[in-house]
Amino acid sequence: MADERSEADDGPLVQFVRWLDSRLGLSYPLLRPVPQYSINPFYWIGALTVVAFVIQAVTGIILLIWYVPDATVAYQSTAYVFNSVNYGRFLQTVHLYGAYAMILLAFMHMMRNYFVSSHKKPREMMWVVGMLMGFVTLGFGFTGYLLPWTVISVDATNVGLGLLAPLPPFLSSLAQSLLGTTGGDTAELVRFYDIHIVILPAVLLLLLFGKMYMFEAHGTGAPAKAISETQKKGVSFFPDATLYLLELSALFSAALLVISAVFPYTLPPQFSVAASQTVVPQPDWYFLWMYQILKIAVFEANGGLPIALTLITLIFVALFVLPFVDRGGEKRLANRPKFVILGVIFIAELAVLSYWGLVTPGQTIPDEQAALVLGGTALIVAVVFVGVYRIMFSRLRGKLSAGVQSSMSMKRAQLWTAAIFTLLLVGGALAISGSISSVVQMASLGITGAGLVNLSFYLTAVGLVVLGTIYLLYRLDLANGTIKTKVPVLQVGWPNEE
Ligand code: HEM
Repeated sequence: MADERSEADDGPLVQFVRWLDSRLGLSYPLLRPVPQYSINPFYWIGALTVVAFVIQAVTGIILLIWYVPDATVAYQSTAYVFNSVNYGRFLQTVHLYGAYAMILLAFMHMMRNYFVSSHKKPREMMWVVGMLMGFVTLGFGFTGYLLPWTVISVDATNVGLGLLAPLPPFLSSLAQSLLGTTGGDTAELVRFYDIHIVILPAVLLLLLFGKMYMFEAHGTGAPAKAISETQKKGVSFFPDATLYLLELSALFSAALLVISAVFPYTLPPQFSVAASQTVVPQPDWYFLWMYQILKIAVFEANGGLPIALTLITLIFVALFVLPFVDRGGEKRLANRPKFVILGVIFIAELAVLSYWGLVTPGQTIPDEQAALVLGGTALIVAVVFVGVYRIMFSRLRGKLSAGVQSSMSMKRAQLWTAAIFTLLLVGGALAISGSISSVVQMASLGITGAGLVNLSFYLTAVGLVVLGTIYLLYRLDLANGTIKTKVPVLQVGWPNEE
């Protein structure tokens, strides 16, 4: 029986939305319908990052009312908001935690897209633009952190600016003039302020526009598993998907407001040279992993900083070019164990470095300790995930165990493989740190015959380890943690089933 109700029966709110729609053309399919399967929060993390940005813009614009970008009064103007403006402290806290949420969401969005292979064809450029947006988001954190001019923020910013020193002179002076660091405190503060409230928002909006344009062209990436026709059905962007996004945004904003109310931020003391003597400079949490790498003894040694910066830059370059390296059509997690494990190791190392940085402010980290902790983290994650893959895909085990007579022989094979893996990893960690310290030594003490012999020894070791690892990964059957086909050199202790 057809719905006899007419539009006149709709409530005033629905009628108003209808009126708005008919005048503003809201349901005009500017944004393509989204597939049913994407009505799932994991598909909207990017959108939630935009929501976090909007919250930052709104709270930031309100804070502009009172904030004075002058090093002599910046702290007082911030303290005034904290102590004298109604809900001022809450507002500042929401702006700070909103920044944290935006950085965390952008990172989660990146890793989600990595694990579901959304960086693959045709979305490589969305990934590259995404990386740029990630940088802008970190830039917001770096420039915003200085503005209250507290002893913590000024010292941490100075540590950050100190990283410009080893750059080639023209780059270093360009960066310093861009950041206004040569013109005194207020010049620097005003420049950071301009970058924070004008340059970065403009760049982010431009990048977002480009990205949304590509998103509209490609649509959202489909899941790797088979999806039903119902799931493929389109859901109109307005009002359905919009309402869904509003629900998610409401949940996110509510959580942010509640956390800001329950854990209000306390303004650290104002910057002064005297106060600065009493604190150990430490960057905010999202830069702690870099800070910890820079504190490793070999990088603190004379000539070590440029190498540390090169290493960190290489990490970002690797992320940038990822879509052009990881190009295979395969998207299923089950069939991408190597990339999945690399992704998990990446997250684990970031978490370990960040926490380690938090609990060891100002302390130099001995090389061996760094090699052990970072190597150990990679090893533990790799071994655990080999196990996870084994358990998750135990259905393979049935087939395999039919071939392999006794689980004892399988166990021994796995132990040998794990032992070889351990050797390679520890050997690799030592060879890499050895190469780095020989380079640093030669950089500080000059090139000597002994130094060159040392370096070539370590580099050969690195080469062998890399070759061995590639060969092992190539031969490794991750589903059951054994060597796929028998390789005499790697079969010591392997039971002879023939
Ligand atoms: C401020 C930071 C960022 C914002 C505001 C943002 C925003 C968005 C939005 C709104 C989408 C549409 C789908 C969704 O909502 O998830 C999206 C898709 C995407 N983003 Fe981002 N993004 C940011 C950072 C990044 C980063 C750091 C990367 C990777 C390095 C990245 C890679 C991608 C990719 C590959 C897609 C396509 C996903 C798909 O269609 O399945 N984004 N982004």
